[in-house]
Amino acid sequence: MGKDSLTITDNRTGQTIEVPIEYGTYPKYGAAIPAAALRDLKVDDEDFGMMTYDPGYGNTASCKSSVTFIDGERGILRYRGYPIEQLAEHCDYLEVAYLLLNGELPTQSSLDIWGASIREHQMLHESVKTYLDGFNYDSHTMGMLVGALGALSTFYPDARDIADEEAVELHTCRLIGKVATIAAFGYRHSRGLPYIYPDADLSYTANMMQMLFGSPGKPYKPNPTLERALEVLFILHADHEQNCSASTMRGIGSGHADPYSAMAGAAAALYGPLHGGANEAVLKMLTRIGSVDNVPGYIEQVKKKEVLLQGFGHRVYKSYDPRATIIKKTAYEVFEITGKNPLIDIALELERIALEDDYFVSRNLYPNVDFYSGIIYQAMGLPVDMYPVLFAIPRTSGWLAQWRELLSDSEQRIARPRQVYMGEDERDVALRENR
Ligand code: ACO
Repeated sequence: MGKDSLTITDNRTGQTIEVPIEYGTYPKYGAAIPAAALRDLKVDDEDFGMMTYDPGYGNTASCKSSVTFIDGERGILRYRGYPIEQLAEHCDYLEVAYLLLNGELPTQSSLDIWGASIREHQMLHESVKTYLDGFNYDSHTMGMLVGALGALSTFYPDARDIADEEAVELHTCRLIGKVATIAAFGYRHSRGLPYIYPDADLSYTANMMQMLFGSPGKPYKPNPTLERALEVLFILHADHEQNCSASTMRGIGSGHADPYSAMAGAAAALYGPLHGGANEAVLKMLTRIGSVDNVPGYIEQVKKKEVLLQGFGHRVYKSYDPRATIIKKTAYEVFEITGKNPLIDIALELERIALEDDYFVSRNLYPNVDFYSGIIYQAMGLPVDMYPVLFAIPRTSGWLAQWRELLSDSEQRIARPRQVYMGEDERDVALRENR
């Protein structure tokens, strides 16, 4: 192998620069040059210097990270080096959250301590309940979550001290504990149901289920298969490296905002249908298609670019999303308990046709994590506007892991991209009567 550098010649001037290549753990996916080095390429002293143009950051590494690894060509996803398939099979969500945040899987005793500190923080300040009461009955639950996360920052002003490691740990536990309660209260509010308070004796997911489906004064016993399915779904959604919402979390965090404000921004980014709102969009699409007979017609509309095949495609995965494989299997386990969701037949037919069709094959479009998750949530009796919220709950641990990594990274600076200015050159203001 030759030298670890690039030699770049500027054909405008004949200037040549040599730029070092930096490698990550996997050179094939982690070779990058420092973008700032290009600034040495100038046509004259006045010139600002060369930049790269990369809308949507399709080929720009914004950080060095040790949290999550994705090989999009081979459909590989690992948290801290552990394959997602093994984590989904052997772990529960809080164990995986601990892994993301601390880099190692917990021992039983550290898991017990960690779980207890999350449970201790599940309760909401009564004023947060009053805040949620202010939302209209038909407010989208994701909008309620975004609003309530932002509001939480006003309850914990010490969270603004992001240099205090103890405070960072405390607010990490608070956020993971409280996000599920806010989500459940939002759901109960939109249904006009009384709030069910968190139960510290239950697992994270069993507690989530009792807050959603329980009745006041009646003990709630979740079905173990459904509880396990929710654990698996939460593990699969916990992190996905530098996606739109994680980058938003890091972007807001880079301005040194408190984690509640940063997370409100991350949740807002997740809300969009191209990101975490896709599970809701998939369900609406499947309902609109209505029957297997209508699938070929819908595929034709997609190919004419009139509509999107929701839940298909991914910026990084260019083969099957490994999370979708696990979710599809989980769906059948859930149907054993709930009965089959008839929308699964439409989803399977869409997938079958799409995976044989050149439009999708040539563009590497495969089902992503959101294609099957909504079908499971619907079978469990949850309304569509809860699906992005159920994505945000476990993603909280990933957002916080990314945020904490940012705080400890001495190379990170405030996020501030450049632009290629395409507007007018300097001109004089004409007086209003002369325009
Ligand atoms: N249906 C139909 N065509 C699609 C789809 C889709 N779902 N996704 C991409 N394409 C087409 C594009 O039109 C484009 O075609 P062209 O080459 O003829 O112009 C080509 O495939 C490449 O697509 P891009 O939009 O350039 O891909 P990008 O990486 O920018 O977008 C995204 C990725 C946003 C996920 C896109 O695939 C999409 O909109 N999918 C549907 C929404 C969705 O499921 N989002 C969830 C993603 S997973 C997550 O965030 C949790």
